[in-house]
Amino acid sequence: MAGYVLAIDQGTTSTRAIVFDGEMKIAGIGQKEFTQIFPKSGWVEHDPEEIWETVLWAVRQALKEARVEARDIAALGITNQRETVVVWERETGRPIHNAIVWQDRRTASYCEKLKRQDLEKFFTRRTGLLLDPYFSGTKLSWMLANVKGARARAAKGELCFGTIDTFLIWRLTGGRSFVTDATNASRTLIYNIAENRWDEDLLEILRIPAAMLPEVKDCAADFGITDESLFGAAIPILGVAGDQQAATIGQACFEPGMLKSTYGTGCFAVLNTGADLVRSKNRLLTTIAYRLDGETTYALEGSIFIAGATVQWLRDGLGIIERASETGDLAEDADPLQDIYLVPAFTGLGAPYWDAEARGAIFGLTRATGPAELARAALEAVCYQTRDLLDAMQKDWRNSGGDTVLRVDGGMVASDWTMQRLADLLDAPVDRPTILETTALGAAWLAGSRAGVWPDRKAFAKSWARERRFEPKMDEKARSAKIRGWKDAVRRTLTAV
Ligand code: G3P
Repeated sequence: MAGYVLAIDQGTTSTRAIVFDGEMKIAGIGQKEFTQIFPKSGWVEHDPEEIWETVLWAVRQALKEARVEARDIAALGITNQRETVVVWERETGRPIHNAIVWQDRRTASYCEKLKRQDLEKFFTRRTGLLLDPYFSGTKLSWMLANVKGARARAAKGELCFGTIDTFLIWRLTGGRSFVTDATNASRTLIYNIAENRWDEDLLEILRIPAAMLPEVKDCAADFGITDESLFGAAIPILGVAGDQQAATIGQACFEPGMLKSTYGTGCFAVLNTGADLVRSKNRLLTTIAYRLDGETTYALEGSIFIAGATVQWLRDGLGIIERASETGDLAEDADPLQDIYLVPAFTGLGAPYWDAEARGAIFGLTRATGPAELARAALEAVCYQTRDLLDAMQKDWRNSGGDTVLRVDGGMVASDWTMQRLADLLDAPVDRPTILETTALGAAWLAGSRAGVWPDRKAFAKSWARERRFEPKMDEKARSAKIRGWKDAVRRTLTAV
């Protein structure tokens, strides 16, 4: 029974494990949500032990559903929520603190302090990132400063730092592998993406001892072998990538100029820029798309913190829908004469605005405004924000010229209405693939191709198939008017005007 590949997708709200068969079709899935811990306003934590339990559960469930044994699995690929920080004891494997999640804003004032020291350019030059609490570096520094004795222990090599991939590989291999991949490293704020190494100067500024850092590998590499006792047989771990990079791979965006956008809790657009390390002048991130056979492919990334989360808010906060899937139908019934704009700055605004203090706002309400208009405004906000990112990408990189086709994935893309509106507001075609599990597929491909049981890059790219293309239909005048309205709404929401 050759050709089965297992992917673990450890996300922000749930852990999924998917068994793919030799035809790259889904044979079994296990999924489990876990606790979101909010110790203070703006703080978000996860319990690494609970994450670990969900991984074990999800893998066993996926194997069961696929009716295969661990010995039938040729390779394991791991993909994960990025930037989230775990620190554990080398000796016991015990975490010293809850994981600090990428959404956590506790280091906002620390970032401000570093900015006041004029260090942002320095960090951006080396890492492609900005001084925002989003990234791992300041979070790790916070943990070292706030857990008693941690910094001294880290310097002695007693503690290990990892993003979630590193922590899981450590656990899966029984502590034998202490590794990460280049994409996850590129989100830490301490990794030099031009030279592909941990950056001593940045480590010094953030007071992070190099002794606690994992080895950085290509995305398809030997990451270790799972402990036999876990699933009944040892499985080689052959692929690792951060989730947005894995989705880029799963969407087969291997050529410079290709672009994907994933709509989950947030929205992350990634543009492949090939060997070009493009320095953004428009507050986008420069990041590693993947590193294969020692060759680094770069990307420009736009990160929006809130996308599907607005729909969740309509459901759980306002109670105007019962299921997220109703939103598109509801939006379709909205009064076309009402111009309502919802700026979902619930946790500040990400790219290209990066305003951590901004908060959400709705403009244009009248007494005629009802659930349908709010639903439309929520979905349109996601489209406008995507447009903002693509505009910035085009300004940053001339090669991302006029013939952009956006490949989309994630929960929200199931809505035809939303995808049509996206194409209309972008004035560009939007392609929805047949396989929507692109993140897991990307991780599985890394592992499966490395194991030699799945096609190589070229053949995999050829196998990518479109389920539907959405062509722009809105006339230019209507589009321009709407975009003007959005820009005005954002201007009124930003704190720094
Ligand atoms: O950068 C954060 C991103 O990796 C989180 O993705 O899908 O877990 O919300 P997701």
